[in-house]
Amino acid sequence: MNLVNMVDLLNYVKKGEATAAFNFIGLDDFKGIVCAAERQQVPVILQVSQSTAAQIGLDYAVALTRVAASKASVPICLHLDHATSIDLISEAISCGFTSVMYDGSSLPFEENLSQTARVVKMAHDAGVSVEAELGRVGGKEDDIDVSIDDQVLVDPLQARDFVLATGIDFLAPAVGTAHGLYKGTPNIRFDLISAVVELVEVPLVLHGGSDIPESMLRRAIQAGIRKINVGTDLQVALAAALRRALSSQEGAPNMRKVHVIAQDAVCDVACDKIAICRGKQ
Ligand code: 13P
Repeated sequence: MNLVNMVDLLNYVKKGEATAAFNFIGLDDFKGIVCAAERQQVPVILQVSQSTAAQIGLDYAVALTRVAASKASVPICLHLDHATSIDLISEAISCGFTSVMYDGSSLPFEENLSQTARVVKMAHDAGVSVEAELGRVGGKEDDIDVSIDDQVLVDPLQARDFVLATGIDFLAPAVGTAHGLYKGTPNIRFDLISAVVELVEVPLVLHGGSDIPESMLRRAIQAGIRKINVGTDLQVALAAALRRALSSQEGAPNMRKVHVIAQDAVCDVACDKIAICRGKQ
């Protein structure tokens, strides 16, 4: 199959279900994610953050994903996550990304709106979908670090105006989740999700999808979330598998075996998340 944008990908996702979107940083997690999508026979969104883009290169990410998509039996989307630089977005679109997120959440509302509208024009001209954030999601996502005090929940009326004025395809409203591991139980505002769903036409994205009790993820989907972003849970599984595999080896390491174990661990966690997104037990 070909690479698709997020709007086209969502056409393959049943009403009342969500699509999982996974951040990857290297080949092991990339292959683990694709393995999960194939095993579960669902479309999947592969995401690259700004720091990962700098580390592995936008062109490498595109090349890797194109190969995966050409072999896969499910649709795949390559999405640039939390880009704060419009130049980087422009480069990603030229390279072949099929979706981008512009993160203007640290800017005043009007500036976020006008910059996001610029991105939408540029991206839509190239058939690329656009996600944007409103309010401010807390936690640490690579080089974007938002302390608890700086978190801002979305205002549903602002969300309606923002979506209409910018023409974005997906909205990530800040509803109480945070990137990374939680200190206690997350306080997700399901009422806010429902309120935004009532007022905007575009699908909603839940950021910070790791370390959240399964029941809460299911409730968020019931409230109207259509895409769940997961990064940290995969990295935790990857790191644990690498540690286990390396420590069980003596003498010259067999790194091929180590990488296979790491990919399998990521695949298992990704499968669990996909099952939740599909409402399966
Ligand atoms: P987690 O790392 O908390 O899963 O968040 C991922 C994310 O939201 C990427 O945008």
